[in-house]
Amino acid sequence: MGVLNLQGRVYMQPIDDPFKTADWALGIMQKETKTIFVDFHADATAEKMAMGWYLDGKVTAVIGTHTHTPTADGRILPRGTAFQTDVGMTGPYDSVLGMKKEQAIRRLVTGTPHKYEVASHDVRLCGVYVQADADTGRAVKMESIIFPSFG
Ligand SMILES: [Fe+2]
Repeated sequence: MGVLNLQGRVYMQPIDDPFKTADWALGIMQKETKTIFVDFHADATAEKMAMGWYLDGKVTAVIGTHTHTPTADGRILPRGTAFQTDVGMTGPYDSVLGMKKEQAIRRLVTGTPHKYEVASHDVRLCGVYVQADADTGRAVKMESIIFPSFG
């Protein structure tokens, strides 16, 4: 199994084209394995969705990271690639993106910088479970995980 981390460019620091980089990296990785998990670290949902469609049928999974917020669109795309725009944060949800909410609110309300501290309450795990066909590398089952659930 291979793991490929790509970084997006929309609303992020300039970096090489993640689409061309995916083509280059997969050209190497696919000589070794058909089971490839792509972590796409990017901010814009559109860029992450585009990458999912771009790699559909070429990799086992394209799972977005970075926003800390789990999206409810986990599914297997038509050509067999599991996709979710963002897997979400494993960390404290009594927070603003993992930081103490009082400090984050003060920062935004006053428009002045304040020190951030990591929050500690309501810790949850977010992830995805992807089952793949070892012969084809295609996803056959996918489940989004939030534990404990918000329900
Ligand atoms: Fe990030």
